[in-house]
Amino acid sequence: MNRDDTNFATALLEWYRNHGRDLPWRKNPTPYAVLVSEFMLQQTRVDTVIPYFNRFMERFPSLTDLAKAEEGEVLRHWQGLGYYSRARNLKKTAHKCLESEQGCLPFDSKKLSEMPGIGPYMEKAIRAFAFDLPAVPIDGNLMRVYSRLEALAIYPDDPKEKKKAETYFMKRLDSPREFGQALMDLGELICLPNGTPKCETCPLRFQCHAHAKGEETLYPLKKTKQVRPVEHRAVLLLLDGKGNIAVRKRPSKGLLASMDEFPNVLGDQEELQKAYPGLSLRHLSKVTHIFSHIEWKMDVYLAVGELPDFTYMPMTELKEKAALPTAFAKLLSLYSPV
Ligand code: ADE
Ligand code: SF4
Repeated sequence: MNRDDTNFATALLEWYRNHGRDLPWRKNPTPYAVLVSEFMLQQTRVDTVIPYFNRFMERFPSLTDLAKAEEGEVLRHWQGLGYYSRARNLKKTAHKCLESEQGCLPFDSKKLSEMPGIGPYMEKAIRAFAFDLPAVPIDGNLMRVYSRLEALAIYPDDPKEKKKAETYFMKRLDSPREFGQALMDLGELICLPNGTPKCETCPLRFQCHAHAKGEETLYPLKKTKQVRPVEHRAVLLLLDGKGNIAVRKRPSKGLLASMDEFPNVLGDQEELQKAYPGLSLRHLSKVTHIFSHIEWKMDVYLAVGELPDFTYMPMTELKEKAALPTAFAKLLSLYSPV
């Protein structure tokens, strides 16, 4: 590190110690707490994650508790967070640690990378935040800060640019546990993605090229919007006449794997009627649900009847015991028993 790089870390870390966010997984950053938080944070905002993290740690306080839990109960604690494969992989990782690492999360890059659901980003996040080892996980916040510091017209998702950002930050690294999280907070609180960043309170303003030129908002380049394919589905809220609703478990592979679902088919009322003949369908509403790579446009129907392969659950049990993804859970408000 040369003198300027020391200043970089010193200014950043001082700012973080005074202004960093007080987040539950930072209070006592055990390897397990970091593991759980990083799995949850991978595709989800901090504000959303906090209550899930707290409930999860209360129910599964250790790696061993998680390894020994039922997958269904783990999924239920993930209900509403989305990207449910994360929950299944987290549980598998806990299990693998119990089987082959004496119940401990390894700190070795190679061993970590061989754990289910742990990619290059998370491997670095765990090494840095759980073990204070020299690593900087590069996320969207860090790419934005980097592109502005160096005034680079780059796309934040470009793997080559991510490598360069990593090299840039590694050169300036000090206190790995705090350094990366400080940059995340800086990106979240100061070097804002939308609107004008708060450069006047930024600890890095004296070394920021974009700021020097007054060009903060030019960087990084904006991603071109991806168009999501739209799938039309007909979904059935099927009652048994006693206020119970039909659910079943989805297959263990694919979208929303192993989560619960209501009867539903690709297509419209005709397909639904064909799949479940003899039911008298009443159209309730149209509901859209957006996943990462696909969008469901759902027509929701109500009917009374019996179907094999489905379990009938009262509303309260459905809320407590089923692992109903948001796409289906939000349909429940359409049906209110009198
Ligand atoms: N996103 C991923 N990891 C994070 C962390 N440790 N703190 C805040 N945001 C994060
Ligand atoms: Fe971002 Fe402004 Fe700080 Fe530069 S000075 S890193 S643009 S907040």
